[in-house]
Amino acid sequence: MQTRAHVEASGHAPVPVRVVVLDHTAALGGAELSLLRLLDVAPPDIVAHVLLFASGRLSDALSERHVTTTVLPLTSRINETDRHSAGASHLQMVTQAVAVLPHVLRVARTLRRLNPDIVYTTSLKADLIGGLAAVLAGKPLVWHIHDRISPDYLPGPLVALLRSLASHLPRRVIVNSQATADTLPGVAAVIAYPGFSRDQVGPRPGERTPPNPPAVGLIGRISPTKGQREFVRAAAIVHDTIPEARFRIIGSAMFDQAPYEREVRDECARLGMEEFIEFTGFVDDPAAQLDALTVCVHASPTPEPFGQVIVEAMIRGVPVVATSGGGVDEIVAPDDDLLGWLARPSDPDSLASAIIEALTQPEEARRRAELAWEAAIRRFPVEETARVVSEVWRSVARGR
Ligand code: GLC
Repeated sequence: MQTRAHVEASGHAPVPVRVVVLDHTAALGGAELSLLRLLDVAPPDIVAHVLLFASGRLSDALSERHVTTTVLPLTSRINETDRHSAGASHLQMVTQAVAVLPHVLRVARTLRRLNPDIVYTTSLKADLIGGLAAVLAGKPLVWHIHDRISPDYLPGPLVALLRSLASHLPRRVIVNSQATADTLPGVAAVIAYPGFSRDQVGPRPGERTPPNPPAVGLIGRISPTKGQREFVRAAAIVHDTIPEARFRIIGSAMFDQAPYEREVRDECARLGMEEFIEFTGFVDDPAAQLDALTVCVHASPTPEPFGQVIVEAMIRGVPVVATSGGGVDEIVAPDDDLLGWLARPSDPDSLASAIIEALTQPEEARRRAELAWEAAIRRFPVEETARVVSEVWRSVARGR
């Protein structure tokens, strides 16, 4: 690999690699946050231009960073279809494909005009729409997959389509965890764990002052896939043993999940927990929220592809309780070390037991959080993500 040191020593500038990054959404989901951090530390030979199908928080964040961005709006009806209803049946898939065809052609025209060395897609809709457009424009394609391509996570026909295209359409496939790679049989995927940036790192666990009364929080958009309902049920069980504990649901509903938020609030009321569970709404600064927690909970009932918030809690020294499955096991139990507590998914009793242990064994919680802080800082710096991803970009740009 041509490093900066080599370039400076030899006096040659590295050959730039022009990348068009394609994402369908401008909402700041996990994949978009990880993209922003990646672009912040991309090596100097990488020249990125971002092409989005909507404007929003992501396009604002990109313009603050002076990353050149084009927005080609896709009708909101298609753009806001979530991954559970997209491709729910073969007929629906065909109808959706016909409806997006004009957009594919527009994207292909824009790609020809931008004339990048590679097209890099970072969301499932961008993989499909941008993937076809890249083929039409004759540009090599790299997929970065942040979702498990599995029937417990996506509709069956969409899984079948994505799995078969993954082996043929993109030159290379990057994934966010081994767990995601395992859902793409026969594809030689490169793992690039989403990384944290230095300014996210907080004090070591021993140096922080846990809040009093104890606070247990779940951070993430409000959605059935994040398990706020299971969290509320677990909170009611914890409350019976530790009545002074307070609970926080940090985040707001996106992508049509307002009805689910209402269900979660109703469950809170039904269990008589309204007084003890706070809903903060969307927060700009998750680090400040993490600093105010005794324990950070991840409650996804279905296996999470990665789970960045767990890493964010670890690097701020906050003990973690997480439901097992997917990328979470790679973060919390690497090489059989236990860096927090793992609970059974979709099981409020198991989640509650783990929270109670973490709250009633502060020494053990601190010991695990120390190990977690060190492991996460070593394993997940965004510079490492950028190294892996840009190496794939360079090799595809050079036709390898
Ligand atoms: C998606 C996944 C999440 C992952 C993130 C970054 O949001 O659902 O598990 O942490 O992408 O890869």
